[in-house]
Amino acid sequence: MSVTATKSLIERTRALQKSLEKRATDSRTPEDISVLHAELSDVLLLHGQRYYGLDDPVISDGEYDDLMVRLREIEDQYPMLATENSPALRVGTAPLAAFTKVEHPEPLLSLANAFSDEDIRAWYERGVRNAGMDLQSEARLHLALEPKIDGVALALTYEAGTLVRAATRGNGRVGEDVTENVRTIRSIPLTLSGPGFPSRLEVRGEVYFQRSAFERLNARLLKEGQKTFANPRNAAAGSLRQLDSRITAMRPLSFFSYGVGPTTGELPSFHSERLQQLENWGLPVSPDNCRADSVDEAIRLALSWSDRRESMDYEIDGVVVKFDDISVQQQLGSVSNAPRWAIAYKFPAQEVTTTLRDIIVNVGRTGQITPEAVLDPVQIGGVRVSQATLHNADYILSRDIRIGDTVLVKRAGDVIPKVLGPVVSARTGTEERWTLPSNCPVCGAPLERIEGEADTYCVSADCPEQFVRLVEHFASRNAMDIEGLGSKLANLLARERLVEHLDDLFRLQADDLVALEGFGDKRARNLLQGIEQARHRPLANLVFALGIRHVGKTTAEAIAGAFPSLDALASANLDALKSVPGVGTVVAQSVYDWFRIDRNRRLVDALTSLGVNTVRREEEAHAPVEEGPLSGKTVVVTGTLEGMTREEAKKMITALGGKTASSVSRKTDFLVAGASPGSKLEKANELGIQVLSERDLLNLLS
Ligand code: IVH
Repeated sequence: MSVTATKSLIERTRALQKSLEKRATDSRTPEDISVLHAELSDVLLLHGQRYYGLDDPVISDGEYDDLMVRLREIEDQYPMLATENSPALRVGTAPLAAFTKVEHPEPLLSLANAFSDEDIRAWYERGVRNAGMDLQSEARLHLALEPKIDGVALALTYEAGTLVRAATRGNGRVGEDVTENVRTIRSIPLTLSGPGFPSRLEVRGEVYFQRSAFERLNARLLKEGQKTFANPRNAAAGSLRQLDSRITAMRPLSFFSYGVGPTTGELPSFHSERLQQLENWGLPVSPDNCRADSVDEAIRLALSWSDRRESMDYEIDGVVVKFDDISVQQQLGSVSNAPRWAIAYKFPAQEVTTTLRDIIVNVGRTGQITPEAVLDPVQIGGVRVSQATLHNADYILSRDIRIGDTVLVKRAGDVIPKVLGPVVSARTGTEERWTLPSNCPVCGAPLERIEGEADTYCVSADCPEQFVRLVEHFASRNAMDIEGLGSKLANLLARERLVEHLDDLFRLQADDLVALEGFGDKRARNLLQGIEQARHRPLANLVFALGIRHVGKTTAEAIAGAFPSLDALASANLDALKSVPGVGTVVAQSVYDWFRIDRNRRLVDALTSLGVNTVRREEEAHAPVEEGPLSGKTVVVTGTLEGMTREEAKKMITALGGKTASSVSRKTDFLVAGASPGSKLEKANELGIQVLSERDLLNLLS
């Protein structure tokens, strides 16, 4: 597809999305509807070709699904528009010629989507009726639930227990022969372990990347100066469709079986038992699969999956619900390209495409420079997103993200939205490469990149932006917790020169404040009261609040546990700092250096004389806890936990006799990993450190 064709496809898609957003179909005339239907069909057909034929989509799966839902709505309302060429009935086009084509003995079907509880219930009730049952006797109709893994579909053929062929789905009827590549996937057995496998067996499933393996792959590609992948799905597709299988062999792909194709031989009569059988023969099956006795239970389980989506080590975009009884499956059969016996309960999309208008840079409290994307606003999971992080200059470079690009943006849970990468094929040639400015955009000081680090810093001690961010951090919840002092007020106080050093906060007077815009007596009083309370925060809060590079809350707590006062910390030598659990060389050096800077020493003195608490309270000291299951163990907590905050988890660990640390090292004994564990989990895996779930931790307590 040419650049202009792609560009016009994107423009047509955006126009359609806008028009569909603005007006409900029932307020349109029949002529309007027919024009809209024709355009929707055409656009969906073209996207289908890109997705299935070229493996090069220009919109996200979620956007494609949304458009398809609208097309179906129209066709339901106006059945005469639903011709046999409607994209609602088609899967895509022919595969590329690069691999040998393989005709599937039975087509690999697609799945119908459900987006709500009602959709699932309606699908279930239809199924029960079509299976000739009445809803009262539904007790027999068990359902099987499986994660809908976001990867690439694959059909494996075993003859006499030996893998003879692996084929991609392609357009459903004809796929590509990727046997050589698949032989390199270690979890796929080359021979089945007996006994009793059929003489010919076709296993269907999904090739995917574990999140951790994906992160590792991207880290390696980055190191080698190669382009990185936007998401695990792209990485799986790109790795499976390598013409050189030696490259695939270096990509740690995974596989889960989710079904059986045409097979010569006996198989159990329930789907879940068949999967169990496959597992017995040595094929990987998702450990998350489960069964439900009723549609209500299935819905409950599907929702709970949606909640823990982020904590799974593979990306899922929904839950597949299937009638478990094979005879019911056979009775129900399929319509066009999807079986009636299965449905995909899709989660709200987390990834959408939009245009990257500009890249701006932000200056953090430690001077760290973070590039940020300015986007054409888009809705992701019900939230309007117009800015997203781009991490650092290397991230932009390795993904070749350019201003003007159509980009894939992800927002998962409460995580800050991020740009995953460009849709390269949507380029028109007008996109511009971005380079990191050589000077701080706020104070103009030259930017510096620290040897061995990906980040760039404004190292000026007088950068006003750094100071505003520092005030904001100082006042934040985990630091001095000064209510009402956020980024706006920090800006105002700094701009009006009421606060030029952190200690000035404790010198503020009501008269200074009421003179400010937006301040009345009450607001001034409240703020001063908040500041007064901040004088009495624990030492750990103060250590964290100072904004020392690499000192997060956990490290601050460890430090406060080891030194009786800020003064003692200020005069500690490097060895004393390094002996604090969880404090390594880099952190120790950073703390040591911070206290060697005159203005910082002056700050410490000023805070002390202004009555700010700088000594450790008894309860902060690391009192040796009585023997517990974690005695003598160092534990790191990472990711988002479900039933407790990280702080609570740390308290629990201390109560169990363990010590907590902020970073994973050889000294770590356990890592407690919640959702989105990121690089700590990776490091723990690399070092062979045992990983505990939140449940494991609770079990220890009980
Ligand atoms: S069943 C005959 N089960 O989703 C039913 N598909 O949108 C078709 N997928 O192409 C497949 N996880 O690649 C099934 N547990 C699962 C799945 C799953 C992921 C993929 C599959 C299919 C696509 C359909």
